[in-house]
Amino acid sequence: MSAARIAVVTSGAGFEHDVDLPLVVAALRAEGLAAEAVAWDADSVAWDGFDLAVIRSTWDYTTRLDEFLAWVDTASRCTRLLNPAPMVRWSSDKRYLLELAERGVPVVPTRVLEPGDPCGEADFAQPAGVVVKPTVSAGARDTARYEPGQAAAAVRHARMLLDQGLAVLVQPYLRRVAEGERALVFVRGAFSHALRKGPVLTEPGVIDNFRVPHPDLVPHRPTEAELRTASAALAAVPSPDTPLFARVDLVLGENGGPVVMELELIEPHLFLDTNPRGLGLLVEAVAAEAGLKAV
Ligand SMILES: Nc1ncnc2c1ncn2[C@@H]1O[C@H](COP(=O)(O)OP(=O)(O)O)[C@@H](O)[C@H]1O
Ligand SMILES: [Mg+2]
Repeated sequence: MSAARIAVVTSGAGFEHDVDLPLVVAALRAEGLAAEAVAWDADSVAWDGFDLAVIRSTWDYTTRLDEFLAWVDTASRCTRLLNPAPMVRWSSDKRYLLELAERGVPVVPTRVLEPGDPCGEADFAQPAGVVVKPTVSAGARDTARYEPGQAAAAVRHARMLLDQGLAVLVQPYLRRVAEGERALVFVRGAFSHALRKGPVLTEPGVIDNFRVPHPDLVPHRPTEAELRTASAALAAVPSPDTPLFARVDLVLGENGGPVVMELELIEPHLFLDTNPRGLGLLVEAVAAEAGLKAV
């Protein structure tokens, strides 16, 4: 029997910057699997030639969402796509935070402004400042925080997005992000490893699309409360499937309890270079999904 063919799906930016990508491809090959990195938008890829396509770093999807979701549908008709298409679609828009909140998961307090909604300074009155971001984004793109005295600038930012037909999230700035945002990585629903990173929105009032997305990373040992909250978020995903991989980003809220900032089911950095055990778990899971026993 020939080795299972596995596409590890990336993008131009992923080929350049994804540190997880070569590690995953090499580790899969070491298991005897025919793994190769493929850009999701590469010309004339025969997706039906793969037994499995694992999304890894399709990092340009946020600016090409419709095109990307069309590819997700095509790919999942041609091969087995992981995470599954409905999960990818759901996770691509941070309005899922409202659904998680409805299901009792603690999340960053979040309001959504839709294109056409009126918005004025009163919408951005928060004692510790406010964060404005598009509902579809990554790497803090078009995301900024504003001090209480900067509500007029927050309105301008929100209107700039709304005028492009984009929905906007408005959140209080959670100052305890200074104590580190926690990124908990799960493989097939089981906790693998975690890191903590520093705050990204260091300068109030500034939109800067070239910020370092994961500053000052250190390994993190999650508390019981963090593990509970991250697991509750995963359990609340409206899907019968368990994600192959997931990253749950948490911050400490005002009362000290962890709240979900983001539930990444598409193309999260998994920081596998810092964690060989996590790499092993992922490769074992992918091998099992490809219908082969990992050795
Ligand atoms: N409400 C908030 N309070 C504090 N910091 C925030 C808040 N929202 C976003 N940030 C900061 O901005 C970064 C990017 O925001 P996030 O919601 O994670 O979007 P993405 O990573 O998809 O761009 C976070 O890692 C965090 O440092
Ligand atoms: Mg984030």
